[in-house]
Amino acid sequence: MASECDITRLAEILGRFQRDRAILIPLLQEVQAVCGYIPPEAIEPVANHAGVFPSEVTGVISFYAQFYTSPRGRNVIKVCRGTACHVRGGRTVLQTVMKCTGIKDGETSEDMRFSLETVACLGACALSPVMVANGRYYGMLNPGRIEAILKDLP
Ligand code: FES
Repeated sequence: MASECDITRLAEILGRFQRDRAILIPLLQEVQAVCGYIPPEAIEPVANHAGVFPSEVTGVISFYAQFYTSPRGRNVIKVCRGTACHVRGGRTVLQTVMKCTGIKDGETSEDMRFSLETVACLGACALSPVMVANGRYYGMLNPGRIEAILKDLP
C-alpha cells in the first residue's frame, strides 16, 4: 500500500527534536501521531536525526508493540482476549467484530474504515467482555450492542 504520510511533514517534525539518540522513541511517537504509522521512508531521516543506524530504528519499531509500520483504519478496534473476558464471551465479541468489519486480528479493511487488534488484557476485567474503539472502552458487550457501536463509527 502506498504511503499516505507527506514527507514534508516529516522535516517539520524532525525540526522540533534535538539531534540526540535519547529522542528516538519520542520522535517515533510523534511521527506516528502525525502519520498514523511509521512510514518506511521515515526510517533513514529519523536515524540520521537521532544519530543512530537505520537498523536501530527498525529494531525499536519492531520491539515496541505501540509502533505500526503500515497505515491503520480510521477506527482502531481492540478486542480483549484475556481470561476474564474469555470466560464471559470474549470469543463471541471477536467473532462479532470480525463479522461486522470483514477483517481478522491484525488486519485493516480495504476501505480503511477499521483496523482490528486483540489485546491480552485491556485492564477493565470487571466490565468483561470488553473492547476498545478509538480509545473508548465498551464493556459487558453482546453481539447486538457491538453491531450498534460499530455502525455508529465514522
Ligand atoms: S481480561 Fe479482558 S479486560 Fe482484563
